[in-house]
Amino acid sequence: MSVDIEIDAMTDFSLRLIASFGRHFFRHDLFYFNPKGIAMFVRNSWYVIGGSDEVTTTPLARKILGDSVVIYRNLSGRPVALEDRCPHRHLPLSMGTVQGDEIRCGYHGMKFDASGECVEVPNQDNIPNKACVRAYPVEERFGWIWIWTGDKDEADVSLIPDFSVMSRPDRKSVGKTNYVKANYQLVTDNLMDLSHVAFVHTTTIGNNEMGEKGSMRLTPTEAGVRVVRHINDVPPPPTYLRTKQLPIGKNIDRWNVIEFMAPCFIIIHVGGKVAGCGALDGDYEGGLNMWVCNAMTPETETSTHYFWASVREFALDSTEVDDLLFSNVSEAFEEDRVVLETQQRVIAECGDSWSSALKADAGCLQARRVVDRLLREERHKTEQ
Ligand code: FES
Ligand SMILES: [Fe+2]
Repeated sequence: MSVDIEIDAMTDFSLRLIASFGRHFFRHDLFYFNPKGIAMFVRNSWYVIGGSDEVTTTPLARKILGDSVVIYRNLSGRPVALEDRCPHRHLPLSMGTVQGDEIRCGYHGMKFDASGECVEVPNQDNIPNKACVRAYPVEERFGWIWIWTGDKDEADVSLIPDFSVMSRPDRKSVGKTNYVKANYQLVTDNLMDLSHVAFVHTTTIGNNEMGEKGSMRLTPTEAGVRVVRHINDVPPPPTYLRTKQLPIGKNIDRWNVIEFMAPCFIIIHVGGKVAGCGALDGDYEGGLNMWVCNAMTPETETSTHYFWASVREFALDSTEVDDLLFSNVSEAFEEDRVVLETQQRVIAECGDSWSSALKADAGCLQARRVVDRLLREERHKTEQ
């Protein structure tokens, strides 16, 4: 397999070791994993907790970063997120009902407002002092509901990653909420290293020819890392052909521009254009252009809510193309899910020591290092 890797402005020790793949084995502590081999969560961040269509006036229970949260819409349609545990006798508030702007517990009827304060106790005038639940800052953007899990005073909506490609009027987006019984960083690894497409997704977005070719360029960014992968002169994969956007019988040059934004967001610009027409120099105009948007919200250390959307710039009104992309991307993610959950099971049995790394791992490793730096910064702050 010939894969050229160029690493811009990369001084990182471990990545330079990876570039000389074949001669080194890697010590797992080089990458700053926690003692279990699984990174813990960055709390001071926005996360996606649901799709806009999932959050209604019926309470939705969702655990994120180990916190049990209830989320619902109030009268004005604004999403509210509260700790999902009544302070009285611990019944989850998600078993209660939304009444106007408040939620009423389904056991003895205490009522809580959007700030988490108890505003009513049935048949009692005084409200106990400690009768409140944690309220989380929430924001609705790009068809997703975002929640801030850290220090309330630091919740700044300008820190929400830019997924505007999903809501542009000249784009069409289809997507879903998936659930994976694996650590969120295993899902991130899967998306940062798309060399697996040639082996895992041969009936949809991949084909065997891809595995033999390609170049990769990795650039650190302010928010994380960008990986640009070009695969030259290969037959279009089944999904690309089904879109009917490419000339029949011609090989294409393919691209994956993978933008990782810490701690768990990835936008992948994917596409193909007739071979030799400039795609390898970054000219993607006139080709088949699509974006896969991904937000991986940890549920626990070993499970993830995985929000995705497939975005395109062609056939915006075609329900046929909606169905095609939805079903093909779903199928590919189902194939990934099987791999990821199996990986997680093996890690639980054998531990997660990376005894070897490939050149194609450069993107995941850099993404993990960025998250690890954030974790260390957070840990340092809380220790002060
Ligand atoms: S458990 Fe909620 S009011 Fe009693
Ligand atoms: Fe995949």
